[in-house]
Amino acid sequence: PQRGRFGPLVGSIDEGTSSTRFLVFAAKTAEVLTYHQVSIPHITPKEGWVEQDPEVILHSVIETINVTCDNLIKLDISPEDIVATGITNQRETTVVWDSVTGKPLHNALVWLDMRTASTVDQILQNGKRHKNFLKNVCGLPVSTYFSALKIRWLIDNVKAVRKAIAENRCLFGTIDTWLIWNLTGGVNGGLHLTDVTNASRTMLMNIDTLQWDPQLCKIFDIPMSILPEIRSSSEIYGYISESVLKGIPISGCLGDQQAALVGQMCFHQGQAKSTYGTGCFLLYNTGTAIVQSNHGLLTTVGYQLGKDAPPIYALEGSIAIAGVAMQWLRDNLGVIKNVADSMDLAQSVGEVGAVYFVPAFSGLYAPYWRKDARSVICGLTEETMPGHIVRGALESVAFQVRDILEAMALDCGYPLQKLLVDGGMTANNFLMQIQADYCGIPVVRPLMSETTSLGAAIAAGNAKGVEVWELDNVQAVPSDIFIPSISEDQRDIRYSRWKMAIARSLDWVE
Ligand code: G3P
Repeated sequence: PQRGRFGPLVGSIDEGTSSTRFLVFAAKTAEVLTYHQVSIPHITPKEGWVEQDPEVILHSVIETINVTCDNLIKLDISPEDIVATGITNQRETTVVWDSVTGKPLHNALVWLDMRTASTVDQILQNGKRHKNFLKNVCGLPVSTYFSALKIRWLIDNVKAVRKAIAENRCLFGTIDTWLIWNLTGGVNGGLHLTDVTNASRTMLMNIDTLQWDPQLCKIFDIPMSILPEIRSSSEIYGYISESVLKGIPISGCLGDQQAALVGQMCFHQGQAKSTYGTGCFLLYNTGTAIVQSNHGLLTTVGYQLGKDAPPIYALEGSIAIAGVAMQWLRDNLGVIKNVADSMDLAQSVGEVGAVYFVPAFSGLYAPYWRKDARSVICGLTEETMPGHIVRGALESVAFQVRDILEAMALDCGYPLQKLLVDGGMTANNFLMQIQADYCGIPVVRPLMSETTSLGAAIAAGNAKGVEVWELDNVQAVPSDIFIPSISEDQRDIRYSRWKMAIARSLDWVE
């Protein structure tokens, strides 16, 4: 293959909850040249438990790199033009492994996993402490969602983890850390690192100092010796030790939602994006200010593009169930054959006989933070058809985003003027239109949909010592715009019914 046809290339490893992808971007144009994707199975040993095999995840990354590089060769592009690679990943998912054997000590506990409900009660001393009692330090409420609870569960319940800690051979990491350690050598000198965005999702990092907080570690009773070193989101962390990318620096690392914030070029305070994947996550750039929410949002690190760059913070509204609801309709109810069918089926039923569906499969996250919330479908009649349920599931995503926007307007003092969106579900035009309708603001969908991977590529290509990606060169991206098409009254009626369904979900008592 020819060298230099597209100038320097930057790779992006995107390890999400449902699949792994490796994409190659041309640094000069931000164009995706090729990619490969593989699905990652969920292991569900008990109700509410969601695990993945860390070794399957690692092999999927190597496979996607190999196939993508083969694709490049078929396109007459040399993989040797790849000058750096970034990593972006599902956040909070927790891996513990043995530094001597390199083997995981347990399957990864995926962020959606609910087994830590009793660990939450234990930390909250059965209601004596408020769920927000650590929020000032780490920006997060105590919830099953975050890594600290998952590590605590692993220590309490897995003998091999306690033994490895006692023998000083236990390492903890989110998926970025697990991948970086393995790709930079594993048992032969792998680097034990994470970045500020991923660390900000563990509940163990101080949101102000950006270091592990001894007080937090004490409350969760987690030894600091197992934690990785925290770095910025854009710097050369180390070099890939094997594979076709041997010798290439890994120089960008961000949690996937933060990567999408970068990929959507939300570099200014007040800009926000919403990513519709397995879950749905709305991040609002608050600049260098740490804004503490009084309305159920998280305070998180948005990005830190370089060791000496200031950290940029974000308010986040996290919705656990978005794309998962579509998979549930397909796999559990069988009402759609594939996720792409959902648009036609939802449109086929119109608005008459609407049902309201609250998919609280992992409890409800923002702004409610109720692990005991239960899923409900309200308003069923004899006329209810599968299409009504599918429509209710799609509407639940749009209504939950409205819940988040209401909270953000209260925390920030003024409502958002437009919503930038990305992620797999945004291909659904029906969802995009009801999103604009129910929020009453334009929804802007870029034609280039790979914003998460792009964010990691930007961080990698911009890092000191790589410097092939100019942040200042950022062009306005061509987009589709969905404009609200219903009246204020219609919007309010639909939303008040949604709130009635939410009240029923929250009223559930086991
Ligand atoms: O916090 C969880 C989030 O990072 C998962 O993202 O894209 O896999 O839904 P996604």
